[in-house]
Amino acid sequence: MSAESRPRTGVWIIGARGAVATTTIVGARAVARDLSPLRGVTTEGARGEGLSLPAASALVFGGWEVRAGSLLDAAADLAESGRIFDGRVLEPLAVDLEEIDQDIVRGGTRGVSAPCGAVETPTEVIERLAADLRGFRRRHALERVVVVNLATTEPIFTTPEDHLTLAALEESLTGRGAAVFRPSTLYAYATIREGAAFVNFAASPAALVPAIRELAEHEGVPFAGTDGKTGETLVKSALASLFRELLGNADGAALSEPEVKAAKVESKDGVVRGVLGYSPETSVDITYVPSLGDWKTAWDLIHFQGFLGTRMTMQFTWQGCDSILAAPLVIDLVRLADLALRRGESGPMTQAACFFKAPVGTQEHDLGRQYAMLDRYLRRSRLSAVVGGKRASL
Ligand SMILES: NC(=O)c1ccc[n+]([C@@H]2O[C@H](COP(=O)([O-])OP(=O)(O)OC[C@H]3O[C@@H](n4cnc5c(N)ncnc54)[C@H](O)[C@@H]3O)[C@@H](O)[C@H]2O)c1
Repeated sequence: MSAESRPRTGVWIIGARGAVATTTIVGARAVARDLSPLRGVTTEGARGEGLSLPAASALVFGGWEVRAGSLLDAAADLAESGRIFDGRVLEPLAVDLEEIDQDIVRGGTRGVSAPCGAVETPTEVIERLAADLRGFRRRHALERVVVVNLATTEPIFTTPEDHLTLAALEESLTGRGAAVFRPSTLYAYATIREGAAFVNFAASPAALVPAIRELAEHEGVPFAGTDGKTGETLVKSALASLFRELLGNADGAALSEPEVKAAKVESKDGVVRGVLGYSPETSVDITYVPSLGDWKTAWDLIHFQGFLGTRMTMQFTWQGCDSILAAPLVIDLVRLADLALRRGESGPMTQAACFFKAPVGTQEHDLGRQYAMLDRYLRRSRLSAVVGGKRASL
């Protein structure tokens, strides 16, 4: 079956005109129009072979957004002020982006704000969001939908008692005003109830609270998260494995990095702790420098002791473009979530751990082992596709 004749997969993005979302959409459409090759998508090569993963060019986009303006304006802004990609790619894509804009609808800002400012109950918010997803699925005759949370990360969150079980959450949903619910919880609830897979690329922990995970198991829906692992944190997690092999379990390493989002310090710090199996002396600091925009600059300093206790230091600087690093991961995650849906899997997609700073459903933080988990899963899936194909042809 050719890529274009396969049933189409819908990608519904929360925060659909944000930097990562816009870059992902522009990239997928640029590939579809032969304006750019597909780079950085790990499932595009040998890893994805024989699995009929949806082509990036065939993905259908839509989503929720709270900010005004068009997708084309957002893309032009990234090209001009953000210097993220060459703006000349936008002219041949203008019609595509305008069409996708028709499928970007207003989300709930605080879980309760209706488009006209009227107050909705949490159940009404969920009904509205679920209807948006059903409309998207129907309009494009989509077989499967993957919802990706690319909205602004919500502040640090302590899981309330009523988010621990599905029964308690559902009682609160019908009994209280939605102001006590984080938007990501309501988005995730509506998504899973509609049978769409959920990918929490943002660092918002409220999206995958225990009650939501229980709902996913109950509804037979796969989910993945939390907080996409791109750029410098990815490099750091690979280096942490090196230090574990080099030093064994008794020595310390100190890593320091300036970045842009304070709410993300915890999951960033947890990566090194998770790989080493102990808490090294670390200090992670993030500073927002407006003139750097999406071009994140990091300085890492690692000091360690070697043979005979001799002290040594490793330092590196990193400059990466956040959205350019994140967009191919979003495409990989959509393809893997689509595969999980097709295979009838539910619950945490531990095979996607290598894509996250705080992977759900596994404590494995070692990047090498995370990639091995992904490869084992893909091998198993390929085998069952072959067996299934043979059965069908008998
Ligand atoms: N390399 C990376 O860029 C990277 C890595 C890991 C995680 N992330 C996470 O991905 C997310 C997106 O990053 P970005 O750089 O595109 O951010 P951004 O600020 O450019 O985009 C976020 C978008 O979400 C929208 N939004 C905010 N609240 C919303 C709501 N309740 N409903 C619907 N839309 C809402 C905003 O209007 C905005 O357009 C962030 O949470 C970020 O922490 C990014």
